[in-house]
Amino acid sequence: MIIGVLREVSPGETRVAATPATVGQLMKLGYDVVVESGAGELSNFSDVAYADAGASIGSASEADVVLGVNAPSPEQLDGLKPGATLISTLNARFDESLVQDLSKRPLTALSMDAVPRISRAQSLDVLSSMANIAGYRAVVEAAHEFGRFFTGQVTAAGKVPPAKVLIVGAGVAGLSAIGSAGSMGAIVRATDPRPEVADQVASLGGEYLAIENPEAEVSATGYAKEMGDDYKAREAQLYTAQSSEADIIITTALIPGRPAPRIITAAMVASMKPGSVIVDMAAANGGNVEGTVAGEKVVTDNGVTILGYTDLPGRLPAQASQLYGQNLVNLLKLMTPGKDGQLVVDFDDVVIRSMTVVKDGECTWPPPPVQVSAAPAAAAAPAPMPVAAKEPMSQGKRIGMVAVAAAVLFALIAAAPAALQGHLIVFALAIVVGFYVIGHVHHALHTPLMSVTNAISSIIIVGALLQVGVDNVIVTTLALAAILLASINIFGGFAVTRRMLAMFSRS
Ligand code: NAI
Repeated sequence: MIIGVLREVSPGETRVAATPATVGQLMKLGYDVVVESGAGELSNFSDVAYADAGASIGSASEADVVLGVNAPSPEQLDGLKPGATLISTLNARFDESLVQDLSKRPLTALSMDAVPRISRAQSLDVLSSMANIAGYRAVVEAAHEFGRFFTGQVTAAGKVPPAKVLIVGAGVAGLSAIGSAGSMGAIVRATDPRPEVADQVASLGGEYLAIENPEAEVSATGYAKEMGDDYKAREAQLYTAQSSEADIIITTALIPGRPAPRIITAAMVASMKPGSVIVDMAAANGGNVEGTVAGEKVVTDNGVTILGYTDLPGRLPAQASQLYGQNLVNLLKLMTPGKDGQLVVDFDDVVIRSMTVVKDGECTWPPPPVQVSAAPAAAAAPAPMPVAAKEPMSQGKRIGMVAVAAAVLFALIAAAPAALQGHLIVFALAIVVGFYVIGHVHHALHTPLMSVTNAISSIIIVGALLQVGVDNVIVTTLALAAILLASINIFGGFAVTRRMLAMFSRS
């Protein structure tokens, strides 16, 4: 079969559905690839680069499988071969007229934005890969407008305070923004009604601002549900307090299938400092911020800039095209089980079923709901085994045990031959010192500490070297074994320490 890659015609679209790198992967699946001339121009991929990767440059009208980023224009649809399979972002949930139009054509159409949020489909999830880029770019746009450092500095010319960034919604885009703003040195705070994101926010260096919420429960879908009035009132209180403090607010709040929740009101915007910046990532969906204009930059009377850009992934076109193209390759791997260039639309596969809008000219939209499981449902979790709580040892018992151990040791020392007594005293002192030294080292550092202290066993090697020349086969064999085992212990210990340190090294 032939795969055709469309040249995008939507105004402002800079991405392309395949890059020279993904063309190579499509060909490995047994397909021939035709790329429309100039398709990759705005992403910096020339026709020559596609040709070098093995594609031919021409029209997608003869292709059996057509790849696009956005829904094709009516003219592009008219030009498709009957029986072709179209795969692109069709926005079928919201664009009913497109679904109807596609249903009248002898085509099969799959919508890349309808990939269900299940673990198996993560590698095809275009919404996540684009939201990840968009979250990063939102921070870059905010930093550009802000015109000041994100990181705090103490310079000869004076102190620079760090920027305070508030991220509303810690889904894919939000987490990406938290990581990006944090890595630029800002103080980052984040909110989300799903309590399970608290750890993720903290792991990226942000501070999770919890809103007291009796409705809060771990989401079984990875998405939030509509919150009640009580939550909204508490939320409003928090944002009123935070907006006057924040230099930058990035809003990403989304409840699937609904208009974007309105979170930052005009009064909150009015309370922000002049020069502050808001990036409303939900602008295309109605906006989380009062005063956002989709696709535009607005400056309020009090000097706050509100960015409503809806093309954030397209502002990193090469990267976005590569990730989008890779999502398509992953889908085609799923749909080409024989790796023979023959596409199979398998309705028994829940991922393919969920994405298919039209099959052979018949409307199959909307698909049956899928039980998604981004987080395990609480009810499905196995009941924890009852574990007997371990009673901490009482002070008296502990003193008693130490006294018995000391008595045994003293008895041993007293009974030991004079030559051994000195060694036993050193041994007893080593136990006490070791206990206090290691007991005060953080658990996380025990492995590197122990592996380095393996070097202490070099004393065995010294002893074994002294014995190895003795004229007794058994002693020599034991000494050689001691040298070998102690060497493994020492060199292995250093290797483990080195590996652990490498895990913390940025390079
Ligand atoms: P997501 O579903 O992964 O994350 C949305 C988050 O908002 C969820 O964690 C949810 O719990 C949270 N949320 C819901 N109600 C909230 C509330 N009242 N307060 C705080 N948080 C709340 O969605 P994703 O993929 O991260 O996308 C986020 C937004 O970014 C969407 O609106 C999406 O359309 C938009 N987007 C915008 C782009 C652009 O170019 N402007 C590009 C890509 C995505």
